[in-house]
Order: sequence, then C-alpha cells, then structure tokens
Amino acid sequence: MAIIFKIRTSRNRLLILPILCFAVLNYTEAQTSPRQPAKLDTFRPGEVWPDVDGNHIQAHGGGIIKIRKTYYWYGEQRGKDLDPQYRYVSCYSSKDLLNWKFMGNVVKMLPPDSLTGRWVLERPKVFYNATTKKYVMYFHIDDRQYKVAQVGIAVSDKPDGEFSYVKRFRPLGQESRDIGQFIDDDGTPYLVFEDRPNGFHIAGLSDDYMDVVKDMTLVKAHMEGGAIVNYEGLYYSIGSGLTGWKPNPNKYSTAPTLEGPWTEFKDIAPPEANTYGSQSTMLIKVVGTKKTTVIYMGDMWKPSTQWDSRYLWMPLEFIDGKLRLPQPRPWKLNIKTGEVTFPDEK
Ligand code: GAL
Repeated sequence: MAIIFKIRTSRNRLLILPILCFAVLNYTEAQTSPRQPAKLDTFRPGEVWPDVDGNHIQAHGGGIIKIRKTYYWYGEQRGKDLDPQYRYVSCYSSKDLLNWKFMGNVVKMLPPDSLTGRWVLERPKVFYNATTKKYVMYFHIDDRQYKVAQVGIAVSDKPDGEFSYVKRFRPLGQESRDIGQFIDDDGTPYLVFEDRPNGFHIAGLSDDYMDVVKDMTLVKAHMEGGAIVNYEGLYYSIGSGLTGWKPNPNKYSTAPTLEGPWTEFKDIAPPEANTYGSQSTMLIKVVGTKKTTVIYMGDMWKPSTQWDSRYLWMPLEFIDGKLRLPQPRPWKLNIKTGEVTFPDEK
C-alpha cells in the first residue's frame, strides 16, 4: 500500500504525523489479532455451528431454558482436549437462539461416591426454580455398561455459575437412561425419562425441583431422546428408537393432556430418511408477536469423532394435529415475530 502526500507547512506536519502513526498501528493490529467471526443470520442444519468466538458449539444432548430475554443452552461438552477423568457440561447463552456465547463448563466432575471406572454423564437439563432461586440440573448418570440407570442432580445460584453435585437416584424407583425436559406454558416443569422395562415417563418434580414425585403418564413405548411440546392445545411427544448413536426413524404421538391418552406413534419424517441422520433432544417453542414456531432440536452424533457431532435444528410443520419434520435446509428465524423464512427459496 503506498501513501503519497505532500507536507507543506510545519503545522500540517504536526497534525499528520500522529494520524499516520495511529493508522499504521491499527493496520498492524488488524493483521495480527484473530478475526472476529461475523454474526450468523441463518441456521444451517448439519453444518459446523460456530459460537461467537468461532468455535464449534459443544452442547450435545442438550437442553435450553429462557431466563427473561436470554436463552441458556446446556449440553454434553465433548471437546477434543478434555481431561478424560472428568465429565463436563457446557453452558452457552444467546438472545436469538442462533448466535451463542460460550459461558464456560458449568460442570467438571469426577465420578461421584461409589461410581467407579468409565462412567457417563449425559443429556443435562436445567430447570430454574423461582421460589428457591436455584438452577437445578438433572442429568443421566451411569456406568459404562449403562446398568446403573439413574439421574443425577447438581445445583447452582446462577445460570452460568458452577453447579455443585447433590445426589443420584432412580426417579420414582424406576430405571432412567435418556432424559428430556418439558416446561409447560404455566411454568410447571416435567422430567421425561426412559425406563427400559416399562416405557417412557413424563413426571412432575417436587416443589424444590430436587426430586421426581408425580408420574403423569407412562407411555408404553420403547423410545428415548424424549421431547415434548404443548402446541395449540395439543401435547406432542417425540422420541427415537433404541439404536444408540445410530440414527433411526424418530416418531411422535399426541395427547389432549399430559396424562394421555397418547395416540399410536407415527413417523416424523419419511422413515427411510432416518430423521435426516439426527436424534431428538428437545422441542423449543418460540412464541413471537406474529407466529409461534416450534423448533426440533436434534443431535447428529459422530461416535468416533464426538467433538465434531453436529446439530439438526429445523422448524416443525403442524397440520391438523399432525407433525412433520421437513427436509433440512437453511432457514432464518425472526426471534421477535417468530416468523421463519427459507433464504434459498425466493
Ligand atoms: C443413545 C442415547 C445417547 C447415548 C448413546 C450412547 O441411545 O440417546 O444419549 O446414551 O445412546 O450409545
């Protein structure tokens, strides 16, 4: 870059020199500091999803809560360079569900009490209790063979603070592997848990959220990755088959109340698409000024390169009490109005 100018008077020289130094310093800094990634405006299902610092989001099998205007996304931290002794839960925050800031690992845990060897901590879900002012995290805790089949609880005073481990147990005395969370429109929290011998439960929590106390329903289907939404007066539950991290055709059922009766399970997408390579994790309802949009939040697991596991988020289609996960493609969400657009379809 050549800068050609003439310095005519000594007064001008005095002014121009500091400006020149400033410009050169700024130019050098711009060349050496990492480039801030641009703000995202489009959801791109299945692609690497950078957080605001440009790192692929690590929040697998996650759960999301909204505190005032901020969403918090908690999930399994499966980053590449973690200490293998620990299990981690990450926390991200966002105002638009698209641009996420990494708030840190809010859980970094050694195996608690008598749990030894290779153990698992999966599918963390956080509930905020407005009475106790505590953030209560549930997670699936297990041994490597998945025989323990319990939930664990950890608690924090802040959404992005350190969560302290409290206890582990079998909810309602039953086996519990994959868990899901559902907060109804009136704020009542429910834990969804997969009980292998029986089916999947939707269960109410105690007043302090520290226990699972009320079985709302036992859906006698062998489904995991359980997710629920209440949309236009009907409850929809989604779950996946029991094929581990391998995708399968996820299904849904509906009921007028959480107690049921639940309909037969039907495919959410053409069965040969295997849920477009994803597994259900949660359903997020965005109530906008013009439209209510329900987002299917799915994981695309990569078992041997877990840090590279992706996400499939798509707005669901509802027609006459039927639900459909459309073909994944780029989409935009107006977080204020709730409206969705597809930029490639003009
Ligand atoms: C899946 C489950 C995941 C994880 C995985 C391990 O069935 O949904 O959360 O447990 O198995 O194989």
